[in-house]
Amino acid sequence: MKVLHIDSSIRGERSVSKELSAFFMHSLQSRFGELPVDYLDLSVNTPSHPSALFVQGNYTLAEDRTPEMEAALEESEALVDRLHQADIYVIGMPMYNFSVPSNVKVFIDNIVRINRTFRKQDNHYEGLLKNKKVYIISSRGADFNDGHMLANGMDQLQPYLEKVFGFLGLDNLTFINVSPTQFSGQEARIQAIENARVRISHIVQTI
Ligand SMILES: Cc1cc2nc3c(=O)[nH]c(=O)nc-3n(C[C@H](O)[C@H](O)[C@H](O)COP(=O)(O)O)c2cc1C
Repeated sequence: MKVLHIDSSIRGERSVSKELSAFFMHSLQSRFGELPVDYLDLSVNTPSHPSALFVQGNYTLAEDRTPEMEAALEESEALVDRLHQADIYVIGMPMYNFSVPSNVKVFIDNIVRINRTFRKQDNHYEGLLKNKKVYIISSRGADFNDGHMLANGMDQLQPYLEKVFGFLGLDNLTFINVSPTQFSGQEARIQAIENARVRISHIVQTI
């Protein structure tokens, strides 16, 4: 069982999502022993934005690509390989402006690749990242527990990830939403983090 552990907070060691994704990994290793882990911090190693050559290369058969196209796709190819190689993804992800951090968006722009992570068969699309379990620890400053934020459609992170990851075949997603971490006082923040820890401990027992 290989784990791909991804973080994306820009707040380094002060990050709640990073602390909790590390707690998830620690709980996983306590349960299963040492596991092979591939670690990617998107805030440090942010993938490049796709270029025109990237797009051209993406839609050119591998054997017909020019060296320039291959170079433009190199980073994306490596990221896609890492996704295929892991069985479990553990992702720490803050909410930024109601959606995913921009480093996650550019990561997604690199990994949604025809014939690598999805393919088109006749008239339908098929995701190629199969049999993976995905755990997303999503920290939010505001309170998303009381229903108002959700009722107003302010969560554009979870629905977006469900769609785009689902498109790639990742249909086994578990969201651990940590909220409120910022705008409801210290007590509520401590409680939100504690609730997430309890939930993570429980989830890891079911893997
Ligand atoms: C650029 C930026 C945008 C943010 N936008 C939102 C938001 O839309 N909704 C929200 O609830 N919190 C928002 N927050 C607060 C963070 O989600 C919150 O502080 C979270 O705990 C950050 O995760 P981290 O501790 O892992 O860095 C924002 C924070 C930053 C830095």
